[in-house]
Amino acid sequence: MSRNEEFQVESTMDYDRSKEVKAFDDTKSGVKGLVDTGIMEIPRIFIRPSDELVEELTRSKSGLHCPVIDLSGIEVQDRRKKVVDEIREASEKWGFFQLINHGIPSSVLEGMLDGTRKFHEQDSELKKEYYSRDKTRSVRYESNYDLYESKTANWRDTLNISMLISGHIEPEEIPAVFRSVTVEYINHVTKLGETIFSILSEALGLKPDHLKDMECTKGRSVLCHYYPACPQPELTLGAAKHTDPSFLTILLQDQIGGLQVLHNNQWIDVEPVAEALVVNIGEALQILSNDKFVSANHRVLANGVGPRMSVPCFFNGCFAHPKIYGPIKDLISEENPPLYKEFTVTDYIAKFMSKPLGTSALDLFRL
Ligand code: OGA
Ligand code: NI
Repeated sequence: MSRNEEFQVESTMDYDRSKEVKAFDDTKSGVKGLVDTGIMEIPRIFIRPSDELVEELTRSKSGLHCPVIDLSGIEVQDRRKKVVDEIREASEKWGFFQLINHGIPSSVLEGMLDGTRKFHEQDSELKKEYYSRDKTRSVRYESNYDLYESKTANWRDTLNISMLISGHIEPEEIPAVFRSVTVEYINHVTKLGETIFSILSEALGLKPDHLKDMECTKGRSVLCHYYPACPQPELTLGAAKHTDPSFLTILLQDQIGGLQVLHNNQWIDVEPVAEALVVNIGEALQILSNDKFVSANHRVLANGVGPRMSVPCFFNGCFAHPKIYGPIKDLISEENPPLYKEFTVTDYIAKFMSKPLGTSALDLFRL
């Protein structure tokens, strides 16, 4: 029996998983804390069943690349039209694209990644003060938001900065170790989000302000992920296969790699491109577009080297008051009837968050 098979057999044997999960949670030190103890073998709670690993870890060699789109010059009519066409095609076929020349200075991008590292690598006693599973807290550090719901834990830790309800964050609430760069990054990524929503509106044949007027740009949360180097990367994942529940996600990733998108049933690497941001369509925008745009499955491989840092900003839509969303009326006709029920994002996100990562909430709303 190979070493891999041995681990996988062990992982399917009965053991007191909930006890081990609780013990891990109680350390309040996350995956980083485990790695710091010098472990050479990963705990069982992170080991995926063999069938999932075989399916999950097959990498495509098709040579396909997730589209890279140049956002420069969109003030000029002809150029904007071309970008709208490119983003439409990517949103329909991939649900994923990378943006270059998006206007966020590279010093801010680097500062945000570096700040994420500083937060996770600071004195663990200071970090513990932020450790919480209380979803009403606007700033919380946790490992695996779905730790108690999922069958297998992901090899990553997260600091979550939530602007879901109030719509903003007081700078004092952000950990001092990376406060100023985070405030700056949030301002930039919010503005970029508005630009992308206007292009997406046009790509759907609507007025540029349509999605903004629907308050899709509201309800942001910024996650600062830290994926420590893993001693047995072939046995686990950084993030299980999933779609995002948001309208839109803008992700900053470092140069390590590991993010993959499922395209035509093949896993394609979303290769790090210097200074680029990764954009993906979430489930909620798939509903609004009545399946014209797709929310693609994606995942993150665990890696023997690292840490890897990434910072997604989710645009989840309006939480402040009960706003009803559904397939956009202008896109609906007799030939193109609505495919989904209406929803509020508060309800949608609550349903998504109550399930392990990887359980799409789309089917709950499909007519
Ligand atoms: C997510 C996600 C990808 C990454 O947080 O939803 O898909 O590269 N992250 O961290
Ligand atoms: Ni995601």
